[in-house]
Amino acid sequence: AKIGTLRKEGDDGGKAVRVKVQGRVQRVAKQKGIMFVWLRRGMSTMQCLLTGDLAKTYDALVLVRETSLEIVGELWETPAGAHAPLSRELHADYFRVIAAAPGGDDAFATRVPSDFDHSTSQASEALLNLRHLTLRHEKPSAVMYVKSVVERAFHNAYHELGVTKVSPPALVQTQVEGGSTLFGLDYYGQKAYLTQSSQLYLETMLPSLGDVYCIEKSFRAEKSLTRRHLSEYTHVEAELDYISFDDLLAHLEDLICRVVDLTLADPVAAKAIKEYNPDFKPPARPFMRMRYADAIEWLRERGIKNEEGNDHVFGDDIAEAAERLMTDEINQTIMLTHFPAHIKAFYMQRAADDDRVTESVDILMPGVGEIVGGSMRIWDYDELLAAYKREGLDPAPYYWYTDQRKYGGSPHGGFGLGLERFLAWMMKLWTVREACLYPRYMGRCTP
Ligand code: 4AD
Ligand code: MG
Repeated sequence: AKIGTLRKEGDDGGKAVRVKVQGRVQRVAKQKGIMFVWLRRGMSTMQCLLTGDLAKTYDALVLVRETSLEIVGELWETPAGAHAPLSRELHADYFRVIAAAPGGDDAFATRVPSDFDHSTSQASEALLNLRHLTLRHEKPSAVMYVKSVVERAFHNAYHELGVTKVSPPALVQTQVEGGSTLFGLDYYGQKAYLTQSSQLYLETMLPSLGDVYCIEKSFRAEKSLTRRHLSEYTHVEAELDYISFDDLLAHLEDLICRVVDLTLADPVAAKAIKEYNPDFKPPARPFMRMRYADAIEWLRERGIKNEEGNDHVFGDDIAEAAERLMTDEINQTIMLTHFPAHIKAFYMQRAADDDRVTESVDILMPGVGEIVGGSMRIWDYDELLAAYKREGLDPAPYYWYTDQRKYGGSPHGGFGLGLERFLAWMMKLWTVREACLYPRYMGRCTP
């Protein structure tokens, strides 16, 4: 039964390499008096071979999926293609159950669904109720691993670019992206909110640290259930000083390409992306640029209607469905720019050549649509006061934001990128919920 060669400590004649491994049973296979156990420790698996008495004494009931074990034995090198991960196999001469998992009706395999179809709400809810257990399956582990690599890639890219990380507060008393999606709370008798974006705080750091970024949670009380909206998501945000709108677009292109390259440089992440999204290709540079007004034309020409069922006209919001249709059809990264001021947030700088529109950008990716929202910021004091007024915002709680325009303003801009949407794009996930450890969306705050 023993295939391969015993690993020795020296080149020849040394002692056999003995190892002790701990992990949970992933899979068991029995054949003619021998038993294979795949022991999982985090994302790695060790193939263990049990023979003779070891295979006889312990029946399959003890070795059910998720039972936690310690196995001791000799390490063998197996020929490539012999199924053992990393071509290594542990020939066990001893094992001990650390904690048994149940069999029967309560067995992991019976209770926990293993297909990851999130496209119907019933299946998705069933999977997410057991998220604490479904996370042990291969695909969710791989997605969480890639998320960690992508997050590190953003940190590394900004480290390379000399942009400083800061950590703005999550408890705030101002809104950034409109009042309708604020989560309010009682803060020692005062009204406060969970932050929708760290942008305004990042802007205050420019005179102090120069270019800054953060990766924090943002919160949105989204009152609809879509494939790409969460109540709590990971927001990568940056703010850059003394730049033009073109600089901002160039920065975004550079950053996204760096992060993709850094992610693919991790072999485990690259393998997972290849497995779940075989067609994935790093985005081609330069990214396609398209003005909002041209997108409206594009949608009109193809008879794609707006939310009221009419032809799109200048000034309409481009809703998720239309945006997805357009992105999938064009099938490449799109930088959609120059949105009308009245459909965007109060802080956006107007374009110099057309007062109706802002120096704003959304980056759209096939399969997801918007993954980035960014803009140049109003930096003139009076213009900002006029913007509060137009938006019906009380300027009082924004005094610290307004002060930035008083003490040495500058042309500056930045963006926010939804990390879960980025993951959904890279790994071809049906929904951003799959890119969250424990997703939060309308109706779910558990487990
Ligand atoms: O377009 P948004 O709302 O822009 C802002 O919040 C800016 N203040 C960011 C900035 O300039 N610093 O959000 C930015 C990105 C979106 O493009 C999207 O990827 C993600 O955040 N996002 C969400 N992701 C998941 N669930 C939600 N409910 C999201 N809302 C926004
Ligand atoms: Mg947006």
